[in-house]
Amino acid sequence: MTADVRSLRASRDQTVSHHGGFEALEDELEYTVPLRAIKGSIPEAVSGTFFRIGPGRNKIGGKEFGHWFDGDGMLHSVSFNDDGVAYRNRYVRTPKYLAETRADKIVMRSFGHNAPGGIRKNIGRLPANCANTNLVYHAGKLLALWEGGRPWRLDPATLETLGEYDYEGKLGRFNAFSAHGKVNPRTGVYYNFGIRPSFSPRGALTGKGAIDLYRIAPSGELVEKGAFEVDFLSFCHDFALTEHYMIFFQSPIAMKSPVPWLAGLIPFDQAIAWRPELGMKIYVVRTVDFKVEKVFTVDDPFVAIHFSNAWETGDGKIEIDLTRFEDFSVNELLRDVFHSKGDTFSGTFWRYTLDMHGGEMEARQYGQALCGEFPQWDHRCTTQPTSRMYAACMMSGESTFFDGIERIDLHSGDVISHDLGPGRYTSEAMHVAPQDGDENQEGWLVSMVYDARTHLSEVVIFDARTLEEVAVVPLQNHVPFGFHCGYSPTSFAG
Ligand SMILES: [Fe+2]
Repeated sequence: MTADVRSLRASRDQTVSHHGGFEALEDELEYTVPLRAIKGSIPEAVSGTFFRIGPGRNKIGGKEFGHWFDGDGMLHSVSFNDDGVAYRNRYVRTPKYLAETRADKIVMRSFGHNAPGGIRKNIGRLPANCANTNLVYHAGKLLALWEGGRPWRLDPATLETLGEYDYEGKLGRFNAFSAHGKVNPRTGVYYNFGIRPSFSPRGALTGKGAIDLYRIAPSGELVEKGAFEVDFLSFCHDFALTEHYMIFFQSPIAMKSPVPWLAGLIPFDQAIAWRPELGMKIYVVRTVDFKVEKVFTVDDPFVAIHFSNAWETGDGKIEIDLTRFEDFSVNELLRDVFHSKGDTFSGTFWRYTLDMHGGEMEARQYGQALCGEFPQWDHRCTTQPTSRMYAACMMSGESTFFDGIERIDLHSGDVISHDLGPGRYTSEAMHVAPQDGDENQEGWLVSMVYDARTHLSEVVIFDARTLEEVAVVPLQNHVPFGFHCGYSPTSFAG
């Protein structure tokens, strides 16, 4: 146990600051929480494995990383079985993690900081892959994702790192693979994308960007690649998937000039900025052949980071739910997580309707929703009409981190929320479907909750309809704040 952790635990009940949630979990653990230690009862439908990913450490050798996105990826697995709940965590063994662990200091250039040693150590170098952002379990493979590079594959049972994964050589060196792919549950096909500069002669000269597209068959084989050009290279983190389209919102978070970054003078994070003067477009791309079918222009640029579900209506429209930020000021908080606090960690929730025939676009805010992030839905309905959205939220303007979860009725706009109480903070919650044929249940939400009063975490299962906490699984350690999670119906315990 580190000195930091000892002092945090000693201070229990004296502070409810959320900042301990950013402290490192150095230990790699595995243990079972027995049924008798669990408060409430675990629903029968929750019988698989819940995965959670995020930075396991945000500093090394006493030096803070430049940005939350620089934290070394750590996978946590929580497997539900008859004996209780099996917990395990492991760092992803990326070159960055291995080199910096060995040296006990920052060694590599990353998204938010340069490597020590000046220009010579940074010129022409890409940010190191942290494998910390999201995960996917598809075709029997568990992948840790980071949008600037290729995935890292892990054993889903042991969380042992198996190596960087390139889909049998089909992901090239410059084929980034985003953190937000989506699976169409009707076909089992997994779609993903990656951003890069345009390599076309005209595009390269005019500073255009490009988005690579990938179709991965249910077998796990990457069967088709495509690409389309966009007006500029921008931070594009997620997309919306319908039955026939991939939809990309190109927010104007873009390079000021690539020269200082390429020259090794500044890290990538300092080379990008909120640039609304560049405008904002929405690209609707066909899944069948990866061709752009329609482009919409947004009059009031905003930042779209995470999407909820999307679907096509019978009359040529596309409905898309998303989280909206008015600008990129959230990045200031992400650069300084050990000290930052404020409700700009959260965005607002909106419905966008695109008319593929007329070309019009409508936007309306879910006005009753609390500010939040990490929208989720019943994944059985991906690409099909959905009635509810769930999200981590800020219970009040005084909140410093996500201290509640909410359920938004997408028809009425009605919202119910659940306050986690003093000192308890969460992030994304994953929906778990009810058992087949159980029409009375809406399903369950599984999430990690960090308790700042004890510097320990809990796995909490909520009733998706009421947001009541139906089961609380106390862990023996804290789980550092992370980004995303996933759920497999297979239990990997044992
Ligand atoms: Fe994300």
